Amino acid sequence: MVALLLSLSKPDLPVASAIAATVDTLYAVIFWISVVCFVTIVAVGAYFVFKYRRKSDADVTPYIEGHTPTEVSISVGLFILVMGLFVWGWDVYIETRTPPMNAYEVNVVGQQWSWNFQYSNGKRVLNTLYVPKDTPIKLIMTSSDVLHSFYIPALRIKRDVVPGTYQFLSFTPNLAGEYDIFCAEYCGLDHSHMLGKMIVLEKADFADWEDGIGKYGKAAAAKPTAGEKTNTKPLAEMGKELYTSKTCSACHSDDGSSRVGPTLKGLFGKTETLGDGKTITVDEVYIRDSIMDPSKAVVKGFTAGTMPTFKGQLSDDEVNALVAYIKSLQ
Ligand code: CUA
Repeated sequence: MVALLLSLSKPDLPVASAIAATVDTLYAVIFWISVVCFVTIVAVGAYFVFKYRRKSDADVTPYIEGHTPTEVSISVGLFILVMGLFVWGWDVYIETRTPPMNAYEVNVVGQQWSWNFQYSNGKRVLNTLYVPKDTPIKLIMTSSDVLHSFYIPALRIKRDVVPGTYQFLSFTPNLAGEYDIFCAEYCGLDHSHMLGKMIVLEKADFADWEDGIGKYGKAAAAKPTAGEKTNTKPLAEMGKELYTSKTCSACHSDDGSSRVGPTLKGLFGKTETLGDGKTITVDEVYIRDSIMDPSKAVVKGFTAGTMPTFKGQLSDDEVNALVAYIKSLQ
């Protein structure tokens, strides 16, 4: 019975992660609770309309007092039900937004009107996201122009991609195959053509793809029109070069020694106290802000205004590379 109800309300989409299955179940539960409530309210309403209709002109409507126990139990019951649904939904929501530490990372840059995927080994692919099956994936997303929204219906996940900062999404694909990626935020003339594919490969096939060998590696390499570039430098290496060429190294050491600014070694993931006493954890967003808007949050003991802003001087690719480099300095 329950299985039948679940299947009746199921969307006609592949279910490519455990989260997707949970979202479908939650949706089914909300849908059928709504159906039961709707039918009950209409039926009871119709019954009362009939039962208490005016039968003759002499009818006087009786004065009816409220019934406190009934009112309280309906209110409390509904409150518990709604809170239960909220907590269930919140749990799923949080899971899609807190990637585990060991997640496989892919940088996503949205741009009118394509999706650019950058892998830490230096691979870049336009509009096709390759991911390994049964592996937690962390997407580090930004936009180089306007608001976009990254949407994979098969995973039931969607998140706005905002210029000037990072948004994260996490998921663990559990079904190999090819799935649609859409942009779900109107972003200009060709918004409806801002499409992509997510290809979930078995772990061994994914390793082949990463190395550019085997069926998947060769197929991808043989299709340069797909926008895949295989021989760019690993992101962290590109970041290391920028660290020198943009003279970050003049003020920030990468080996733990002290210079004008904080060292970059061991910085990622560290908890820092700011000048105003607040504490923050150094993540991708904090590093990006520190490069683009250095006075926004200055760590205690350092002077605001010492570091110049790099706004307008670094592309999103370059910021991603610097973040990857700092992450590598553990
Ligand atoms: Cu990007 Cu719509």
